[in-house]
Amino acid sequence: MPENLKDAINGIRAMNFAGVNVTAPHKIEVIQYLDKIEKSAKRFGAVNTIVNENGALVGYNTDAEGLYRYLLKESIDIKNKDILIIGAGGAALPISLFFSECEVKSITIKNRTPEKAHAIAQYVQSDNNFFIEVNNLKKRYDVVINTTSVGMYPDIFKCPIEDFSFIDSDTAVIDLIYNPEETLFLKTSKNRGAKTLNGLGMLIYQGLLAYEHFADIKLPNNTYEIIKKEVFGK
Ligand code: ATR
Repeated sequence: MPENLKDAINGIRAMNFAGVNVTAPHKIEVIQYLDKIEKSAKRFGAVNTIVNENGALVGYNTDAEGLYRYLLKESIDIKNKDILIIGAGGAALPISLFFSECEVKSITIKNRTPEKAHAIAQYVQSDNNFFIEVNNLKKRYDVVINTTSVGMYPDIFKCPIEDFSFIDSDTAVIDLIYNPEETLFLKTSKNRGAKTLNGLGMLIYQGLLAYEHFADIKLPNNTYEIIKKEVFGK
C-alpha cells in the first residue's frame, strides 16, 4: 500500500536491514523517503534497491544494468545494433537511458501513447544528447525488447504488437515478462526464427547486482546459474 510505504522504509532503519529490493509500483514513490539517491538511479528517476549504509538509506537502480548483464551473458552485444523498445512505462526509461550510452546504432521506442514515448526520448536527449526515434519503425531490428505488461498472466493471449515484419532469424527478442515463461510475443518471434529470452534472466541479474550493493561484495561469475537452478529450478 503506497500510504504504508513510509512506515515500511522506517522499518528498514528500525530492523537495521542491510537493504531491500523494491518493485513496481513503488520504485518512484519510495525516493522521497530515502536519505540519498545514487547518481544513475537519480537519472533513471526510479529506485529498485535500497541499501542501509550505516543508518543512511541510499537508493540505487540495478534494473537496466541487470538486463544489460543478462544480454551479455546470452552473448547479445548491443553495440552498433538497432534496438526497438516496445512500451514507454516504468521500465522503458532506465533501459532507454542506459542503452543510449552503450554505443548502440539506434534506439526506437514504439508505444500506444506516443506522448509517453516522446517524453522518454526528450528526457534522454536532454540528458546525453542521444536521439531516440518514436513510432517510426525501421525495416528490421537486431534487438527487440517488450517492456509492456501485455501478454502477462492471466492475459496470455494478448500481444504488444501485431506486425512482426521487423523480426527475423538474426533478431534477439526479449520479453521482460516471465509469467508465462513464453508469451505469445516470444512464441510468435521464435516462429520467425528469432532468439528469444524471457524476463527471468533480468530479474535474477538485477537481484544479484542489488545483493552486491547490500553486502558490498562482488559475487562469483557462476552465481547466476546457481540462483537459476536452486531458486527457480531451471
Ligand atoms: P508501468 O507501471 O511500467 O507504466 P504498464 O502500465 O504495464 O507499466 O505500462 C507500460 C507500457 O505498457 C505503457 O507504455 C503502456 O502503454 P501506454 O503508454 O499507451 O499506456 C503499455 N501498455 C499497457 N497495456 C497496453 C496495451 N493493452 N496495449 C498496448 N500497450 C500497452
